[in-house]
Amino acid sequence: MKTLRLQLRFLLPLAVALVGAAYIALPLLDQVTLRWFSRDLNSRGALMVNAMSDAVAEALLDPRGERLSTLLDRAVQDERLFAIAACDAQGRLLHATHAFPDGLSCARSLSIANRQDPRLKLAGGAVHVGVHNIMRPAPDLPAEPWGNPASGPATFDAASAAPAQDAAAAAQGPAIVGRLVLLHDMSFIEKRSQDTRRYLVGFIAILGFVIALITVSVAQLSWRGWVKGARAIMRGEGLVSPLLPPPELAPFVDELRNSLRDLEDEYRRMQGPALEWTGERLRNLLQTQLRGDQVIVVSNREPYIHEQGPEGIVVRRPASGLVTAVEPVMRACSGTWIAHGSGSADREAVDRHDRVAVPPGVEDYQLRRIWLTPEEEQGYYYGFANEGLWPLCHVAHVRPVFRESDWEAYQRVNQRFADAVVAEARSEDPVVLVQDYHFALLPAMIRAQLPQATVLTFWHIPWPNPESFGICPWHKEILQGLLGSTILGFHTRFHCRNFMETVDRSLEARIEAEYSTIRFQDKETLVESYPISIEWPEPATVAAWPSVAQCRQQVIDRLGLPQDLCLAVGVDRFDYTKGILERLNAVERLLEKAPEWIGRFVFVQVAAPTRASLDEYRSFQEHVERVAERINTRFGRPGYRPVHLLAQHHEPDAVNELFRAADIGVVTSLHDGMNLVCKEFVAARDDQQGVLVLSRFAGAAREMTEALIVNPYHVEETADALLRAATMPPAEQRERMVSLRSTVREFNVFRWAARMLADAGRWRLRARVEARVRRLGSG
Ligand code: G6P
Repeated sequence: MKTLRLQLRFLLPLAVALVGAAYIALPLLDQVTLRWFSRDLNSRGALMVNAMSDAVAEALLDPRGERLSTLLDRAVQDERLFAIAACDAQGRLLHATHAFPDGLSCARSLSIANRQDPRLKLAGGAVHVGVHNIMRPAPDLPAEPWGNPASGPATFDAASAAPAQDAAAAAQGPAIVGRLVLLHDMSFIEKRSQDTRRYLVGFIAILGFVIALITVSVAQLSWRGWVKGARAIMRGEGLVSPLLPPPELAPFVDELRNSLRDLEDEYRRMQGPALEWTGERLRNLLQTQLRGDQVIVVSNREPYIHEQGPEGIVVRRPASGLVTAVEPVMRACSGTWIAHGSGSADREAVDRHDRVAVPPGVEDYQLRRIWLTPEEEQGYYYGFANEGLWPLCHVAHVRPVFRESDWEAYQRVNQRFADAVVAEARSEDPVVLVQDYHFALLPAMIRAQLPQATVLTFWHIPWPNPESFGICPWHKEILQGLLGSTILGFHTRFHCRNFMETVDRSLEARIEAEYSTIRFQDKETLVESYPISIEWPEPATVAAWPSVAQCRQQVIDRLGLPQDLCLAVGVDRFDYTKGILERLNAVERLLEKAPEWIGRFVFVQVAAPTRASLDEYRSFQEHVERVAERINTRFGRPGYRPVHLLAQHHEPDAVNELFRAADIGVVTSLHDGMNLVCKEFVAARDDQQGVLVLSRFAGAAREMTEALIVNPYHVEETADALLRAATMPPAEQRERMVSLRSTVREFNVFRWAARMLADAGRWRLRARVEARVRRLGSG
């Protein structure tokens, strides 16, 4: 089909050209044939007149004209001669045969005969007009039968006929005594001309057909050859196929193959995902799959924190991957978010039901705050969650601490949140999204009070192997609590497997590995991986961002950095799992290995304060500060500090500015469920520049393979990766960044939520069908 279209593209102009050629050639052909035949008829007429010349000359002397008429009537017997007339030397018509046109004078005949086209149109068709002189032969000069002056063009010259001159002329030689006008029938010429035209048209048509045939065959053959060749190149068989170029063209073939692939990739990227997940699409899914049922989110960290500032109450966004991911989902789904009210002005912002509509000014959903006593917070949050479960699950070489009192606080607080869920539920089967390790007991507690609820639990941190998890004295209770979920989600399949194995070792449960389900105490839970992500920024949001150059200049000015620098940036909570020490060691090693970067390589670490009342965190933060100071003392100089440690909270806009200003984004977690900072870095770089250095121990490393993946425990490897990033050509940066961006854009947080909610929708449908079947069975 494609070849046919291509060939038509060639054949149509060919047809037009041939028709044009015929259009020009045919009138030209007419003119040429007319000229040939005219010359032919003139010669023929001259011969005839020569033959009759003497007889006519004599007949002209006959005053009665009888001889002349006899002669002319006999001459006109010639089938091609239409009429003939005789004129005297003065141009008077003496005699004409009967077909000679009435109004045609001798003078007009002569003027027609002297034209390029000596044709005269008559009613019965055109005639050729020829005028020939009749000479009186001189007595001493015999008339020349061939080549006498009669063959030259005739003229009526009054002087040539003067009697006085006649005598003199007679004495000198032959003189014109009259002229014969011959009208030849031209119908045979027209017929021949028509025949010739027909032959020519036929010839052009055949020629066109032959050219077209040759073209189509050649095009078919070469197209097939090219397609076969190109396919072979794409398959990488290039140089073995006999259809393909010889080995010396190998570089060209490679170049062609690469260019074709580049084009294809570019096209795919431009196309983007077939149907991107957006808030709107998620809302629709909620309406269709879950009949618009109420959605309740439970997390420890709240999405908006009201703080008492020097100038009144301010609203702060916490540094939490969980909040970054779940907040856009909640904005799309509405509903209620239950969380610990931890801000100093939180109580002032809520109504009498402890609710406040958020986001401020937009109010898409309700935030329901739960108040904890300092003891509860200490035992449940700092104690069991962050000194026990957090280090237990991250395996970051910090010993987990499990205290009986913390465990008791943890149970109590989980129960309080379960009661809050029941209080907020408007139906007996709400969809409850339980978030993270703070609420391992909550799913079973909710199920105890709302058996019809759909409980989707998402564990945002890693799940260790069974041996490690077995350290927890209450590991069975935790597993039983989680198995109250309808669906239990982790970031990776690896964490799902660890969880199933842990259950297998600890509980009497039926595990269906094939379906990824666990049946425990007659209740089934789906254990599935749902890699979490961020909200991909809207084009209008991106358009409102300051340019990369502006961001860079602002950061340089604010931190007093050198203008010509390579800027590496890390943005994390000040947590020992984030590998901040390891990356500082790598920066130090880089400056040792490549001293040319001293004065030009700057590493800015944003370290948001977190859990600072815990010893482990405090000593870690002090350790980091000491190492940063050491590096600055070692490599710093007036006006240059290689490490800038910013241990303050940064709002999302400030973080975005840093990401846009940076040459390198550094994420070196020692263990991380997913890590959303690397996805935010990529989303900030609409200029398609910047290099991501990413730990292989972050869940994100599985998706973001175009980053420079490092083992953060390996200082040398990480330093080399930083160096490689610092010297990476812009084209390579672009290639990697474009790919990373398309991954994060496609696998965004709405897709994460949609997959879970769609699974929940199917689960609910199945449960309803089973209940109906049971009713029918018992009825
Ligand atoms: C991790 C946890 C979240 C937590 C966040 C911030 O991402 O998975 O649940 O909210 O860290 O920690 P914080 O203790 O300040 O809430």
